[in-house]
Amino acid sequence: MWGILARTAVKSRMVKPCGLVRPVLATRIPGRYLAHQEGLPGLPIPPLQQTCERYLAVLEPIMETEELGHTRELVAEFQKPGGIGEKLQDGLKKRASKTENWLSAWWVQTAYLDYRLPVVVHSSPGLVLPRVEFSGWQGQIRHAAKTIAGVLDFKTMIDNETLPVEHLGGKPLCMNQYYQVLSSCRIPGLKRDSVVNYAKGTVPSTHITVVHNCQFFAMDVYNSDRTPLTVEQLYVQLEKIWNSSLETDGEPVGILTSEHRDTWGKAYMNLIKDRTNRDSVQAIQKSIFVVCLDAAMPRVSDEMSSAAAQMLHGGGSRLNSGNRWFDKTLQFIISEDGTCGLIYEHAPAEGPPIVALIDHVIEYVKKSEIVDLPTEPLPVPPKLRFEITPQITKDIEEAKKNLNIMVDDLDLRVMVFDHFGKSIPKAFKMSPDAFIQVGLQLAYYRLHQKCCSTYESASLRAFKLGRTDTIRSASVDSANFTKAFDNPGMQNTEKVALMENAIKAHRSYTDMAIRGQAIDRHLLGLKLQATEDQVHLPEIFKDRAYATAMHYKISTSQVPAKTDCVMCFGPVVPDGYAVCYNPMENHINFAMSSFNGCGETDTARMAKAIEKALTDMRKLLETTPKSKL
Ligand code: COA
Repeated sequence: MWGILARTAVKSRMVKPCGLVRPVLATRIPGRYLAHQEGLPGLPIPPLQQTCERYLAVLEPIMETEELGHTRELVAEFQKPGGIGEKLQDGLKKRASKTENWLSAWWVQTAYLDYRLPVVVHSSPGLVLPRVEFSGWQGQIRHAAKTIAGVLDFKTMIDNETLPVEHLGGKPLCMNQYYQVLSSCRIPGLKRDSVVNYAKGTVPSTHITVVHNCQFFAMDVYNSDRTPLTVEQLYVQLEKIWNSSLETDGEPVGILTSEHRDTWGKAYMNLIKDRTNRDSVQAIQKSIFVVCLDAAMPRVSDEMSSAAAQMLHGGGSRLNSGNRWFDKTLQFIISEDGTCGLIYEHAPAEGPPIVALIDHVIEYVKKSEIVDLPTEPLPVPPKLRFEITPQITKDIEEAKKNLNIMVDDLDLRVMVFDHFGKSIPKAFKMSPDAFIQVGLQLAYYRLHQKCCSTYESASLRAFKLGRTDTIRSASVDSANFTKAFDNPGMQNTEKVALMENAIKAHRSYTDMAIRGQAIDRHLLGLKLQATEDQVHLPEIFKDRAYATAMHYKISTSQVPAKTDCVMCFGPVVPDGYAVCYNPMENHINFAMSSFNGCGETDTARMAKAIEKALTDMRKLLETTPKSKL
């Protein structure tokens, strides 16, 4: 999927210091993009009976049989002709006829903007990139300059609406998320947040935010003729910033953005009472993206895991966590020691568009060179100042304390699984993603002797403004397989047959999800419709089975990339694991996390269990005679 995008992107690169035409910042004129979007189908509403049946099926492996009887009765009551289920379904159909996508606004609100836990660890994914070899601070800012130029090059394709349309399963995808990730920012509220996007106005933003030693600067990245600054110009500007922020001075205001959203909402109102503060905050919010020039972090674990921690939370208040504005949609992180990556605020987009942008930037950086060209002298990028009152100091101290607790509680690890990559499942004519997911089920079963509710993101981008639905990886078939695998009394041929069934079941759930026929967003829609209609919440949503189904002890996501990178995020429940992976041809990058405060979970054990599950599954396939498969 990304191959096509990246190849075209490299070809279309025009920033060359040798007389070729340089791209000019365009005010967006809706054209090609809108035409494509108009052609996309709307998100379907699955039939009520289908969702009810499938809901009961997904409960089977995660609930005790005796408990399911009660749930069956509730579901029967919910879906009976003329019942509440049908009324809510009619409400959803009306909503679908009046909106571009019946779900997307609800989803952004419910999944992100109403969610009050800190975005750090609990919502924003980090991305760990391959380490870059450079020396000294000059090397760091040179790399930063190339990265910025690469992002601006990608931005040109967004501005000109020349991004090639992506496809999944042969279907064209909604490209809207690409138009949401630059020049946008989350704004905290007292009870719910919002997202603002400054790319949409007639006067597009022309600056980025650079943060070094917890000090923020607004750096213009376009010349007066609206061409992007060259790498050389960017380097010179970054050097000015570097030299004027050699040491941390004042309070790390950015750390406030790591707070619980209600707390930050309140602190925000207080912070922006002051005019200088308001102007500085607005400059960050309006900027195209943020570049964080980080200090090197001490290696507390292996290199990749330390890097993941740096991307996900910054390492705590004494390290780089104050060198961030976590509300900003995109923050590129370039550390003194060559550790690079990013963190993004999740409300506007999923991982795949972010990774597509990164694939482009990585290719761009490889090819770009700093060439001395005579350029117009540029003004010093202004420092964004903050007036710190005693209340703000208190809020910052509280934020530091809370962030450090969160950082200490997160057990985060990256594992490069180097035994094989997606080519092996493919050779066995199996979906690599399904193979990995069934492996995760086996790993969890071996550690906990039970199955649990498991989430995998499925793209709904085949539909206009589509985001995601849930692939429920724990199925009756995966449970049959995981229970049988270590049973010495069972023949290998039987185990292989069970593995094939589990993998097929996963792939078929995936197909159903990307066709808009999965159950989770439909159930959410029915529940939200009940609130909208101001009727009593139907009993099925108050049932223990529903709570168990929504308690994802394993939350997973595949984020494939051309680049040898991996995304990472935190668990979604206190006693759960998060697992994100990038399957490459001959290896798989995994980032896993759990909370230290939970006695049941242990990321290192889970990592080992995943490694063993995948290698055992391969061994079983290889050692079981093919004729008997
Ligand atoms: N035999 C041989 N090859 C097979 C196969 C089989 N039975 N089934 C699949 N393959 C191949 C595919 O053709 C594909 O080939 P490629 O590497 O040349 O592209 C490759 O294996 C991968 O396919 P698969 O592992 O089945 O996964 P997928 O690419 O279809 O992805 C999802 C599955 C669920 C990840 C995808 O549909 C999706 O929804 N992605 C978005 C997830 C998302 O938004 N995540 C971010 C959340 S922040």
